[in-house]
Amino acid sequence: MPRGAAFVEHGGYPVPMRVVVTGGAGFIGSHFVRRLAARGDAVVVLDKLTYAGNLANLEGVEHELVVGDIADPVSVSEATQGCDAIVNFAAETHVDRSLLGPQEFVQTNVLGTMCLLDAARKGGARFVQVSTDEVYGDLESGQRAAETDPLRPSSPYSAAKAGGDLQVLAYSRTYGVRASITRGANTYGPYQYPEKLVPLFATNALEGEPLPVYGDGNQVREWLHAEDHCAGIDLVLLEGAPGEIYNIGGEDHANIEVTHRILELTGTDQSLIRYVEDRAGHDRRYAVDDTKLRALGWAPAHSFGEGGLPTTVAWYRDNRAWWEPIKSGAYRAYYEEQYADRLKA
Ligand code: NAD
Ligand code: TYD
Repeated sequence: MPRGAAFVEHGGYPVPMRVVVTGGAGFIGSHFVRRLAARGDAVVVLDKLTYAGNLANLEGVEHELVVGDIADPVSVSEATQGCDAIVNFAAETHVDRSLLGPQEFVQTNVLGTMCLLDAARKGGARFVQVSTDEVYGDLESGQRAAETDPLRPSSPYSAAKAGGDLQVLAYSRTYGVRASITRGANTYGPYQYPEKLVPLFATNALEGEPLPVYGDGNQVREWLHAEDHCAGIDLVLLEGAPGEIYNIGGEDHANIEVTHRILELTGTDQSLIRYVEDRAGHDRRYAVDDTKLRALGWAPAHSFGEGGLPTTVAWYRDNRAWWEPIKSGAYRAYYEEQYADRLKA
């Protein structure tokens, strides 16, 4: 969309903007690209297209694409030329994979983030770092993490995300980069790679395959719909203060409750449940206090049990053509490595 009379000032940042969305071919990033494109922003997707990147997630959505690594200054410079903002979704994101091989997590989540921060410093772009509630580590029942709480990450994934966050804060303070951080809860919705709990269990149930529940299944996560997560990130992009952190919470449910609900929604039964060996270092409970973001005007539109989970499971039921090709090839090798022994035991 051409700049000019239609150029609206919103919270000090111009809308429409030219926004670089890194990791825009992934799960949450693709929802964010759809949101910005719908309101007329020019979106540049910078994505390495790892196993989790999928251009099918962006079908029919207007965007420019740069295939490249956020840790590569040449790709970053090409993608960020003349942009107003950079929103960093690109990351290695799966805790279980981080247990198998942590190095890639540091490379992308820490060094890649720094490479993007260097570009924002040079070009003056606004910067939003999409981080996670997992950087606070697990919490006792009744506790909620505030943005000022210390970081106690447990897994190589969350430790690398925490490292990225600390660099963002350092660049903001030292170099004046206009950077904010969001720390979102466990996210679910369409287009999520079927390695995380909701899409893995929904697609396994639809195939009549076992659902591997780690440990006793009483671990608690807050569940946040991808569209609500993106609304929060967008609000921070437009209205958030540089140097500040904003939690984005969800609805608390134990894994075993989520599992039973998925069985119900797919019309399958409890015989598919397998309690398997627990994840090493498994965090028992995440929960955040998101008062600060709500004070900016954010509130979730999706309730997990009422609409969010049923429509998500229906999406996986109706979009086998999206996930069936994913659950073959390299995915099978990962699945075997992660689950074969557990399911045999
Ligand atoms: P995802 O795994 O679905 O997608 C990640 C995307 O990043 C993929 O498109 C991948 O190709 C790309 N990517 C990976 N490494 C890259 C690199 N070096 N250079 C360029 N692109 C690269 O991820 P997601 O679940 O959509 O998560 C997006 C962001 O949100 C991540 O930063 C994650 O830490 C954060 N987050 C996720 C959740 C969740 O529950 N999924 C919750 C809170 C925060
Ligand atoms: P996951 O979706 O991997 O997200 P995170 O580890 O980032 O919270 O897992 C969500 C919860 O579900 C977590 O407590 C681990 C559990 N889980 C299982 O019990 N079985 C599984 O096969 C997976 C992938 C996760």
